Amino acid sequence: MTDAPGALSPLDEAGINALVEEGLAAVAAAGDLPALKEVRLAYTGDSSVLARTNRGIGALDKADKPTAGRLLGAARGRLHKALAERQEVLEAEAEEQMLATEAVDVTVPTARVARGARHPLDVLMDEVSDFFVSMGWSIAEGPETEHEWFDFDALNFDADHPARQMQDTFYVDGPSVGAGEGEKANLVLRTHTSPVQAHVMLAQEPPLYVACPGKVFRSDELDATHTPVFHQVEGLAVDKGLTMAHLKGTLDHFARAMFGPEARTRLRPSFFPFTEPSAEMDLWFPQKKGGPGWIEWGGCGMVNPNVLVACGIDPEVYTGFAFGMGLERTLMLRHGIADMHDIVEGDTRFSQQFGTTGKGN
Ligand code: PHE
Repeated sequence: MTDAPGALSPLDEAGINALVEEGLAAVAAAGDLPALKEVRLAYTGDSSVLARTNRGIGALDKADKPTAGRLLGAARGRLHKALAERQEVLEAEAEEQMLATEAVDVTVPTARVARGARHPLDVLMDEVSDFFVSMGWSIAEGPETEHEWFDFDALNFDADHPARQMQDTFYVDGPSVGAGEGEKANLVLRTHTSPVQAHVMLAQEPPLYVACPGKVFRSDELDATHTPVFHQVEGLAVDKGLTMAHLKGTLDHFARAMFGPEARTRLRPSFFPFTEPSAEMDLWFPQKKGGPGWIEWGGCGMVNPNVLVACGIDPEVYTGFAFGMGLERTLMLRHGIADMHDIVEGDTRFSQQFGTTGKGN
């Protein structure tokens, strides 16, 4: 680089050529883009010898001006051309180097942490609660370890009802607790959400419109369709003048919210100690394997007057309806899940398919 020497004579052809040769050598020697930028400044910038020499043209005789103009113009042209060519080469080199050094080896194993996802059952429980709240119902919860009295006696189960037997029900060791009327009650893991009905009726005055989603326990083996710990949602309405028509309308509305506008329910006569009359509830299921059809979804009925009495409600004034359905079953039907193990095992690859909020995907 020339150390800013003074200007040449604009007619000094030999000097100007020497300056250009020096400049071309500097261009060729510039090893990278920043170096080339310095060379450009030094040989063509405002304070370069070339620029200073150019400014001397004004002081020349008129006759010499064209000669000097051509001479300096040609000198500038050679330098600019060399600079542009070198620029192109260095840019290509820089890009190549960047590609080489910044290349990503997509085959290198990484320590990837799987992102979690809310469990679809948890999401469904929220969705179910939102549905009932949208109808103006409230949500109630009860204990998972329950006095036998709430799980069975209050619900009008006979003392020798088969559901009370050890092979169906988990009894819990612990102090037997008095359950009114001088009776003793054992502790059980609740076998259904229906005891929450009793808690609600004992604690609150009608009118009652309450949904109770929650965990329940039965001594079943885990297989494709059973699990010893599962979830139900219970519905309970107690008011003046409630009939099975109200029950049926509520069930149809709930079915549509869960399964879409084509869904509806039908009732088949059945028996539960705590409802009279009682019914099994079937769901019209358009996506049923082998074609649309009815599939069992839960149980329901009008609250048995004995239960109202046990919970301090006058059956001459109030009637009630109740229903309960399994949430695992609801999820399996709705999403075509074939194996309960998928729901129970907690593999995030399963949960992720349902997104983190809302229905399914
Ligand atoms: N508790 C019953 C069951 O677990 C379902 C049910 C709820 C039936 C409410 C009638 C009324 O099978």
